[in-house]
Amino acid sequence: AAQRVGERPPMGWNSWNRFGCDINEDLIRGAADALVSSGMKDAGYQYVNIDDCWAEQNRTAEGKLEPSHERFPHGIKTLADYVHGLGLKLGIYTSAGTLTCQKTMPGALDHEEADAQSFADWGVDYLKYDNCNNQGRPAIERYTKMGDAIKKTGRPMIYALCEWGENKPWTWGRDAGAQLWRTTGDISDNWGSMTFILDQQVGLEKFAGPGGWNDPDMLEVGNGGMTDAEYRSHFALWALLNAPLLAGNDLPAMSPATKAILENKDVIALDQDWAGAQGHKLRDDGDTEVWAKPMSDGSAAVVLFNRGPASTTISTTAAELGLEGHTFLVRDLWTGTETETAGTLRDAVASHDSSVFRVWPSTHPSAAPMTTLALPAP
Ligand code: GLA
Repeated sequence: AAQRVGERPPMGWNSWNRFGCDINEDLIRGAADALVSSGMKDAGYQYVNIDDCWAEQNRTAEGKLEPSHERFPHGIKTLADYVHGLGLKLGIYTSAGTLTCQKTMPGALDHEEADAQSFADWGVDYLKYDNCNNQGRPAIERYTKMGDAIKKTGRPMIYALCEWGENKPWTWGRDAGAQLWRTTGDISDNWGSMTFILDQQVGLEKFAGPGGWNDPDMLEVGNGGMTDAEYRSHFALWALLNAPLLAGNDLPAMSPATKAILENKDVIALDQDWAGAQGHKLRDDGDTEVWAKPMSDGSAAVVLFNRGPASTTISTTAAELGLEGHTFLVRDLWTGTETETAGTLRDAVASHDSSVFRVWPSTHPSAAPMTTLALPAP
């Protein structure tokens, strides 16, 4: 049976974090090619998402959106065909306002049906719907109108609300037809921004579930403003939160360290698994935190997160993770090393880094050492 779109957190790439308005069809095609050649597609990344600045400033005489003649001369349909030919999906962007955030193109407010139909005609698979220039009109109404318009086209599309968490979209996003909703303002490529967004996720875990995800914004991994340790924490925590995993880096120029983070299949598996609960903060000891998530095979995932300025030892127990048993198999998801423990989980964690473990009670069939756990089929 065909899976509903957004049944699991979407994975892909988006142009905004690295390229802003400096985009064109060659860049998007190059990103799609790189998703394939780098192994990102095999790791589960599927959506190639164009953000702001792809359209002409003015609508056509018939009131339709039109891609920039200069930067997307072959149009979105041609690009979608290309992306689909690689076995990937295409995403696009506009705003629930009169203009998009960069004011370089029209928004879809009061043009919802025409614009949703253009997207469907072009073969678009994902819409990110922003909140700029909204004329102070009620959010639920504006976002529901586009959700209805998408449904009316009959084309399955991920509908991603980018309302910045201003009107608690986690309480009405599903009813508006969305599969994800941004919970905060924009991320930027630095430690302060990443941790500020992380802190705002606490308490939202109860609103997420299959087909409706909290979105703490796109990934900055590999964009250069954080250390590899900080990017490991960013990625592991986003995965633990069942966040959409939208890479935002220059894929053709990706370093081996960035690739190792973004393509870590064991960490991605945390994101793509749903055991009835989004990961959440289990313990806050100031400079150190423990975040945990139950896994559907009866194991648990844990992130030992060091926010402090120096290396330190962080510990938790299998019992604190809700696991029962006398011995446990522990896999370190960054190194792949497997060890056994009677229940204590402890690691030395460098400043701003994270240790990520998956812990199986040893009575569990998966706890046979060297077992490779397959990702659930997409
Ligand atoms: C807003 C959104 C960002 C990005 C920009 C584009 O700020 O929140 O994610 O789409 O607009 O202009």
